Amino acid sequence: MSGSATTIEVGGPAPYAVTVGSGAAERVVAAAQGALRVAIIHASQPAQARDRIHAQLTAAGHEVLAVAVPDGEAGKHLDVARRCWDVLGEHGFTRSDVIVGFGGGALTDLAGFVAATWLRGVGLINLPTTLLGMVDAAVGGKTAINVAAGKNLVGAFHPPIAVIADLGLLDTLPEAEYRSGLAEVVKCGFIADPVILALLAADPTGRASQAELVVRAVRVKAEVVSEDLTDTGRREMLNYGHTLGHAIESVSGYSVRHGEAIAIGMVFAAQLARHGGLLDRASTDRHRELISAMGLPVSYPAPLADLLARMRVDKKARGAALRFVVLEGIGRPRILEGPGEELIEAAYNDLLPT
Ligand code: GLY
Repeated sequence: MSGSATTIEVGGPAPYAVTVGSGAAERVVAAAQGALRVAIIHASQPAQARDRIHAQLTAAGHEVLAVAVPDGEAGKHLDVARRCWDVLGEHGFTRSDVIVGFGGGALTDLAGFVAATWLRGVGLINLPTTLLGMVDAAVGGKTAINVAAGKNLVGAFHPPIAVIADLGLLDTLPEAEYRSGLAEVVKCGFIADPVILALLAADPTGRASQAELVVRAVRVKAEVVSEDLTDTGRREMLNYGHTLGHAIESVSGYSVRHGEAIAIGMVFAAQLARHGGLLDRASTDRHRELISAMGLPVSYPAPLADLLARMRVDKKARGAALRFVVLEGIGRPRILEGPGEELIEAAYNDLLPT
C-alpha cells in the first residue's frame, strides 16, 4: 500500500480504525474486501480523486455504483436519501455490500444516514475530503439529514467500518474551508490536548504539522466517542463553543461557516468561565490570541437577545436551562448549566471590539 499512515482505533460496540495518511484509493479497496457492490455516494469535488477510487474498486472486481448528490447541506435532504435508496434498490444492494461516503461533513452525514437505514444498516466507509470531515463529522458514528424543523433532527448512530483520511486531499481545499476545520482541531486542544495548542501557536496555519494535528484531534474524538457513542455523557464535551456557535450559524442564515462560528463560541465560553470564576485570565486570553492568530473570527455583530433566542431552541438545551461546555483549565471541560443572563451578558460584552 502506498504512503505512510497512522491508525487510530475507535472502540465501543462496533470498533473500527481511522487511518490518517496518503493512498486513499488503495485503502478503500482493502476496506471494501468481501463486498460485491460498492456504492460511492459523493459530492462534486474532488473529482479526480473520486475517479481514481472508482477505477481501483472496479479493477478489484467490485460492481461500483456512483451516486452524485448535491454539495453541502442541500444534500442532507430526505429526497436525496430517497434517490440513494432507489439506486441501491435498482442494483439489488445487499447487507454484504458497502457504501463509501466521499465528501465533506455534510456528505458523510448523508451517506451515513443512507447506510444506517438501507436494510436496517449496511457497511459504511467514510472518506472525508475536508479537514472538518476528517477530525469531526466522519468519525464517531453520528449520521443525519435535515428536516423542516431543523438541522440534524433525523438520524441514527451508525459507526462506519473504516474511516480513511487522505491528507493529500487537503492540498486543494479552499483556504477558508481549511481554516474552518482547524477550529475543530483547536477545540480538541482546548478540551483535551495542550500539545495541539503549542503546535498551532508555533504555526497558526496548521500546515507545518498538519499530520500530527489531524492525528491528535482524531485521537481526542476517538477517545471520547469510544466511551460514549450515543451522546449521553462525556461526548457533550465535543460541543465546546457550539452552544453560541450554532446560534451564530443560525442567525447568520448559515453564511458564517461552522468552524468560524464555534471559534467565536469558544472565545465566548472562555469568557463565561472566567466571569464565573472557573478559568484564569491567562487561559481566557489564550483563546482569543490563538484563534485570532489562526485567522478565525472572535466576535459576531448580532444583538445578544437574538442569539439567546436561538440558543434556547437549540436541541442541546435541556428544558429551559441553557447548557455550555466550559473549561476549569486547559484540558478540563465541564458543563455550566443555566448561567444567569448577567453572566452571559458580561461574557458576550467582552467579545465586542473595543
Ligand atoms: N460533533 C460532535 C459529536 O460528534 O458529538
